[in-house]
Amino acid sequence: MLVGEADILRINTMEIAIRLLSPLDQPEALDVINAAAAWYEEFLPQSELHDPEMTPMGWDTEAQRLDWFGAFDDGRLIAVMGREYVRDVALLRHGYVAPDYQRLGVARALQEYIEAQIEGVDRVLVGTYAANYKARALLEQTGYLLSPDSEALLRAYYDIPEDRLCASVTYEKTI
Ligand SMILES: CC(C)(COP(=O)(O)OP(=O)(O)OC[C@H]1O[C@@H](n2cnc3c(N)ncnc32)[C@H](O)[C@@H]1OP(=O)(O)O)[C@@H](O)C(=O)NCCC(=O)NCCS
Repeated sequence: MLVGEADILRINTMEIAIRLLSPLDQPEALDVINAAAAWYEEFLPQSELHDPEMTPMGWDTEAQRLDWFGAFDDGRLIAVMGREYVRDVALLRHGYVAPDYQRLGVARALQEYIEAQIEGVDRVLVGTYAANYKARALLEQTGYLLSPDSEALLRAYYDIPEDRLCASVTYEKTI
């Protein structure tokens, strides 16, 4: 899929457009990410909160190694998710849905859309905070299994701060 070309998905009565994001989408994407990440306050200690969760520089750094996908409702960006290939796996990263669009099936639809676009590898990994019961429920509902060796996988395939690594688990699925 080329940047700018969108696919249309129907979720119940909502029609959303999914496309690859470009640098022009960065400000709107950061609004979604940082608004959605506000709920981390509910389970992360103050010392581990990143405020904002993602900066413009953080977005650009991530954009060098992953493809950002976005879901749009009537032109408004409502969700983002990244796909990164690392050797023999694909990582799904940074899944965020705008708070006023949560629990409508958007994350599930975007995740399944990106999974269908994965080529060349058959193993998908997703890391999340162990305390993130929302993401864990989504992953379990969509066929992911908790990895028995999360820490080893996080060290092998991710480049994340140590505090985040220690507080996280991975889920995986063969596609
Ligand atoms: C986690 C997140 C991406 C889910 O997005 P969403 O669009 O609301 O998820 P969906 O509507 O597709 O929900 C699919 C499933 O996820 C789980 N889920 C989503 N929100 C949940 C909640 N508040 N409580 C419990 N389970 C939840 C449920 O299993 C849900 O299925 P159900 O509605 O049939 O019960 C969203 O809550 C979010 O952006 N959270 C903040 C950022 C974050 O935690 N990202 C994950 C990073 S790994």
